[in-house]
Amino acid sequence: MVIHDIVIIGGGLAGMRAAIEASRAGLDAAIVSKIYPVRSHSVAAQGGINAALKDTDSWENHAFDTVKGSDYLGDQDAIELLCKEAPFDIMELEKMGAIFSRDPEGRIAQRPFGGAGYPRTCYLADRTGHALLHVMYEQLVKHEVVLYDEWHVVKVVVEDGTARGVIALELSTGKLHRLHSKAVLIATGGYGRVFRTTTNALSSTGDGMGLALDAGAELMDMEFVQFHPTVLKRTGILMTEGCRGEGGYLLNSKGERFMSRYAPKVQELASRDVVSRAEQTEIEEGRGVDGCVLLDLRHLGADKINRKLPQIRSLAINFAGVDPVEKPIPVKPGAHYSMGGIRTDFDGATTVPGLYAAGECACVSVHGANRLGGNSLLEAIVFGRRAGIGVSNFSESNGLLPFPATALKEAAFEVADITKRDSGESPAALREEMAGVMEAHSGIFRDRTRLTDGLRKLRDIRERFKGVALTDRGDYYNNELLQVIELAQMLKISEAILLGAVEREESRGSHFRTDFPLRNDKDWMKHTLVSLKDGEMKLGYKAVTVTKFQPQERKY
Ligand code: FUM
Repeated sequence: MVIHDIVIIGGGLAGMRAAIEASRAGLDAAIVSKIYPVRSHSVAAQGGINAALKDTDSWENHAFDTVKGSDYLGDQDAIELLCKEAPFDIMELEKMGAIFSRDPEGRIAQRPFGGAGYPRTCYLADRTGHALLHVMYEQLVKHEVVLYDEWHVVKVVVEDGTARGVIALELSTGKLHRLHSKAVLIATGGYGRVFRTTTNALSSTGDGMGLALDAGAELMDMEFVQFHPTVLKRTGILMTEGCRGEGGYLLNSKGERFMSRYAPKVQELASRDVVSRAEQTEIEEGRGVDGCVLLDLRHLGADKINRKLPQIRSLAINFAGVDPVEKPIPVKPGAHYSMGGIRTDFDGATTVPGLYAAGECACVSVHGANRLGGNSLLEAIVFGRRAGIGVSNFSESNGLLPFPATALKEAAFEVADITKRDSGESPAALREEMAGVMEAHSGIFRDRTRLTDGLRKLRDIRERFKGVALTDRGDYYNNELLQVIELAQMLKISEAILLGAVEREESRGSHFRTDFPLRNDKDWMKHTLVSLKDGEMKLGYKAVTVTKFQPQERKY
């Protein structure tokens, strides 16, 4: 058994940022990650990170845009914190060595982004996440944070209501290990892979949200799934919102800039939920182009495309055979981000003492029913830092509690239960079936019938999952076993999404019910909570915090 002050699950931006804070506090923090940190999905964030840096902008403007973008479901006290602290964090990132594109005066350049009333998205061309992740990794090395990479956490160990460490599977050997700690922080990112069309990496399987549920924590607002409007045809590869921020248009099969009908003032720069719904409507009403719409950058010219969107150009050429300098790019909406997640306070504390969370897997809540582009990297940095301080304070004031003697054995039995079966269904086929159900029943347009059918099909898959069998019985890098462990969590996440969505009889942000097409502030200005009781999911609700901004109709 190894002992650390803090175990952090997940080596993306939020996890690394938290680890650096723990190290600054003089604590021994270790990161456990199923992939190497620089392969984390944060690397895929392209377009930028928001902060009100200029005198002509203000944190209040940023907060208003975020609250409006959230369709008034975001907690306004949390949003105020995010927006007030954003400039400090950008400056700190720069001091750490982060490279940003510059404006002609040499200041950090900022581009317009969807739902923002001011150009406040700082960026490095179209590789912002890549740049930030690598800077954070350098800091991790500088702070000598211990790293268990290619280790997958199968259980957060909780005894007498307090988190005391984790059990992790070393993927290269198949061995289970105990990591004993004073506290645990989950920073495992999103769950995009529960859908078929997604911008998310293969590793985005919602592991941390499932671990938190198992540990007794609550999930919040899981029905709110963000569909990014510009996902490359067939592949799901993200075509950054920066394309539209730099002036790109969306066209239908008639060559119309159709967004002028859905968001007359800002067109392509409306919030993502609005643009995705508009695209889906165009496609479903027969004005799509082979199941897509077209993202036209041609008028920007080769020079601007090469300077501001070089990765987009090469991705479109390599994965769709389309050079955006010459032809529009075929795009459609795809699952991109989870507004919901593990319920935390501003310092990352969940409802389980000693268990913390930060980043996309957490729900503070700053995104409410719809996140603004550029607020995700920001959330990872601001709340990664805050959760790092929160979990450090907890560890300093709480000693190391005993690690339960049976925890390893129980985890080993659970893994053996999967590996010993001689025959059964294919986990890969079940995973594919689940993604199909989620895509068909929990997409951009929802209604009670579609959602309840989806729930029924999903529960059937959950039952059949109990009988899956592996074809690979090896110990070393048994990727099939990893996929089964991931699938167990994905099925829980999917159920939480569907359950929340069935019950929420209104339309708000990304959750659009064709049978309840209006927002209903009287009955639904509340967060959905999901917890596990005796293996069954239970729903609860919690009021939204409103400070400065009274709900109004959203218009773009
Ligand atoms: O479109 C993008 O570049 C994505 C950014 C984000 O999700 O924040």
